[in-house]
Amino acid sequence: MKNPGYKTVSGFVMLKRTFRAFRSPLPVFYQNVADYGNPYAIKILKNQLAIFTSRPEIIQHVLQKNHRGYEKSDIQTKQVADFLGRGLLTLEGKEWLRQRRLIQPGFHKEKIEGIRSIMEETVDDYLQRFSKNYSGKTVNIHEEMMSLAFYIVSNSLLGTKISDRDIHVMRYGVDIAQTLVVKLIRLPFFAWYYKANGSYRRAKNAVGHAQDMIMSFVQKRKDEGGEHNDLLDMLIHSKYEDTGETMTDKQLLFELMVMFVAGHETSANALTWTLYLLARNKDILNKLRSEVDKENSNYLRQVIQESMRLYPPAWITDRVALEDDEVSGIFIPKGAMVINLIYAVQHDAEYWPNPEMFDPDRFHPDKVIKPYTYLPFGGGPRLCIGMQFAMMEMEIALKEFIKRFDFEMADNRPVELNPLITLNPKGAVNLKVRALHTN
Ligand code: HEM
Repeated sequence: MKNPGYKTVSGFVMLKRTFRAFRSPLPVFYQNVADYGNPYAIKILKNQLAIFTSRPEIIQHVLQKNHRGYEKSDIQTKQVADFLGRGLLTLEGKEWLRQRRLIQPGFHKEKIEGIRSIMEETVDDYLQRFSKNYSGKTVNIHEEMMSLAFYIVSNSLLGTKISDRDIHVMRYGVDIAQTLVVKLIRLPFFAWYYKANGSYRRAKNAVGHAQDMIMSFVQKRKDEGGEHNDLLDMLIHSKYEDTGETMTDKQLLFELMVMFVAGHETSANALTWTLYLLARNKDILNKLRSEVDKENSNYLRQVIQESMRLYPPAWITDRVALEDDEVSGIFIPKGAMVINLIYAVQHDAEYWPNPEMFDPDRFHPDKVIKPYTYLPFGGGPRLCIGMQFAMMEMEIALKEFIKRFDFEMADNRPVELNPLITLNPKGAVNLKVRALHTN
């Protein structure tokens, strides 16, 4: 047989490591790369291959150059769609393209500018309350950023200020669904157990309440009529090229649910890690404070970019080969899963000298970045549709936070990674905060 260009190890031989990988996938990846090379493959169920890599040319090939030859795995589509429905994140092929074409224009930079004021108001409200509750105290900033990001995504998507009570219902539904999806992805064989012990039913109920709430906002908007020129208007009124029809309510709901999930925890984690890095790098925080109101300064953006290099919220993504394929001497058989370690390519010393150092100057506009060595928002046609949205919300939130508060780590313990679907911190991220001036 032809040399496939990588070593294949049986999942059985690696049983111990494979189990360890459920708890700490990144060290296991690095150990396997050291032992077997990059890429390496593991034989999983029914002889299917999982090819793990952090080589930019392979990642670029599957996500972009030959994207037609690949689709997302069932893990990313079916498991998630079971709870959220069939929207952009979970669709494939023609159905995906039709939705993407319909929705994409609403997420362009100029369109997103239209919701800037609602993001600013949401951040302002939140930080005023935050100041009252926490100034002079120690706070788990991850909890707070999760909550802030949920307010931003809800108000921005639904185009209105939503009450705390309604936010609570929606967040409960989204969170409980996400928790179960994480469990199912990690231990798919336990699906029967979650069904038997009622977790499934409870999650479905909570999601149902969240969906009813979301639809009541959609209905209210439809009843009101008029032009709002925001994301919700766009989702309600955009027409498919082929039929000239708008989305059904069911499809609209699926898309909104997908956006809540895709846009909430990712941004919250990015904000948390950025504040963590700033708390540990006072010189950079001071520089940011001095630059943040300068008209042409790019530093705020650079800080966020560098934080997402060190801590990419979407740290991993996969694709399955639809046909036999080859790239850079690597043979990818039909049905093989290619697992792209976004985290690892962004920490590779070959492309990022002194990779563990937090250095926002790496993203100075004059610097050239090699393709697919930096991809926090993915790449190719399935690039994150919410990229401009996320950058805008993070810039607004971070700018306001550093202007209103001084903060430092409550203890010197480095925070460890907890790579679930997104790259969470393990345990609390405790910051001591102090308001710089009262609002
Ligand atoms: C820092 C924040 C965010 C990060 C790091 C992030 C990252 C990503 C990545 C890597 C993908 C591609 C996954 C793949 O190819 O397998 C993706 C897709 C997606 N993201 Fe984001 N995202 C963020 C925020 C958002 C926001 C705010 C929204 C919506 C409001 C959003 C909506 C989506 C959707 C709908 C998709 C699927 C697009 C498609 O397949 O056509 N994301 N995101």
